[in-house]
Amino acid sequence: MKRIEIKQLLADENVGAEVNVKGWVKAFRQNRFIQLNDGSTINNIQAVVDTENTDEALVKRITVASAVSITGKVVASQGSGQKIEIEVSNVEILGDADPEEVSKTIMQPKKHSLELLREQAHLRFRTNLFGAVFRIRHATAYAIHKYFNDKGYYYIHTPIVTGSDAEGAGEMFRVSTLDPQNPPKNEEGGVDWSEDFFGKETNLTVSGQLEAELAAMALGKVYTFGPTFRAENSNTARHLAEFWMIEPEVAFNDIIDNMDLAEDFLSYICKHVMEHNADDLAFLNEREIKEDSQKPTAERNSMPLIDRLNFVIDNDFERVTYTDAINILQNSKPYKKKKFKYPVEWGSDLQSEHERFLVEKHFKKPVIIIDYPASFKAFYMRLNEPKEGVPGDTVAAMDILFPGIGEIIGGSQREERYDVLKQKVEEFGIDEEELWWYLETRKFGTAPHAGFGLGFERMVMFTTGMSNIRDVIPFPRTPKKAEF
Ligand code: 4AD
Ligand code: MG
Repeated sequence: MKRIEIKQLLADENVGAEVNVKGWVKAFRQNRFIQLNDGSTINNIQAVVDTENTDEALVKRITVASAVSITGKVVASQGSGQKIEIEVSNVEILGDADPEEVSKTIMQPKKHSLELLREQAHLRFRTNLFGAVFRIRHATAYAIHKYFNDKGYYYIHTPIVTGSDAEGAGEMFRVSTLDPQNPPKNEEGGVDWSEDFFGKETNLTVSGQLEAELAAMALGKVYTFGPTFRAENSNTARHLAEFWMIEPEVAFNDIIDNMDLAEDFLSYICKHVMEHNADDLAFLNEREIKEDSQKPTAERNSMPLIDRLNFVIDNDFERVTYTDAINILQNSKPYKKKKFKYPVEWGSDLQSEHERFLVEKHFKKPVIIIDYPASFKAFYMRLNEPKEGVPGDTVAAMDILFPGIGEIIGGSQREERYDVLKQKVEEFGIDEEELWWYLETRKFGTAPHAGFGLGFERMVMFTTGMSNIRDVIPFPRTPKKAEF
């Protein structure tokens, strides 16, 4: 008999049908009621075993976490909680799970801490929580590809190994095949990188943007969606050393178009997840409400997960310039009461305490901050015309800040003017020879263009409500951690 997946089975409610299901036992109660899950949905099917007429040795092997194949008839359920169940005619054990061993793991059905679940990341897929998270992670990725595809964007695969460190977005991981004990030396006694695999120093990429820009200058609308690597020693709930980034790049867009695109894009992703992952979201929503009820008021979410997603779908983001944001901060209570740890003055970067105040306390909604000082933003961002009341040079940068997450998107309009860009490259002390290919696009039919980077895991934090980034990627890479 052909196997039917539990999601389909529950949707069909085909009472009277003979079916075969395969999955893992979530619970086995009163030696009679199996709760079976196969990953196709968060919902289990109940299968009722006629214990008296089933071999006792076989019944003993139906244990939590074991893999089984069940054949039987679909009947209307006697109990509450499910519409249908299976009257079992045959059970086959596909893989045993020793209860003694299971009880030492997070598969033991009781509440475990997220830290413990992380230590058993090879098994945490089996929990309801991580099943829901990873189904939604998938839906989030799919929504991103669908959004761009339906709008005529091309998916560009930018390199993972890079020979340039021009972006300056973060510390890089070296890629080398040289023997670290005994590397070839140059005349000055340093490592002779020309002997290395690529004949030069190479690293893992921190961003695909610069290459995406090249493609946008011909294909018009492109995006990347790939792994990126940053070797910062940031041990926070929002940083990974290996994460995924989506970077659209659009010819002829300015910073306003860029903001409009980002808002529409984020809202689309939320809508897609709401439409396709209702069961998983309901589970996560309820879990969050329960967890929040045990926290002090100050640490609770201001609204539940599903409301937060709806909020992004239904409301415009707040748009504010960096200069205005500084004014708001300088007039704020925490500033006047000296509650901020870091200085608030025009020209210094906003710290997460400032961003949180703006998003969570002042505006109480997602915020886009634009026109940052040129001094602490990347060399490729377009220089703005001087503006009244703005004390220094600014660039057409934009950061999107989300409640509970902080910066979810960073982007800008790009400097398309050759002379201005060349001067920036010099000012930033970037080796022009390293970036010759990037500069050349500004010589041949240069055009205004803009783009941004969305941190994929930060987006999944938002679509799942998980508060630690390590809990939205299957196997997190963070300082001192590369298990599995
Ligand atoms: O702001 P970032 O550094 O921007 C860039 O890399 C640009 N090249 C993007 C562009 O304009 N095409 O990074 C973009 C986003 C951040 O807003 C954040 O969401 C995420 O990437 N991000 C991280 N996510 C997880 N762990 C880290 N260590 C991250 N660093 C950045
Ligand atoms: Mg940034």
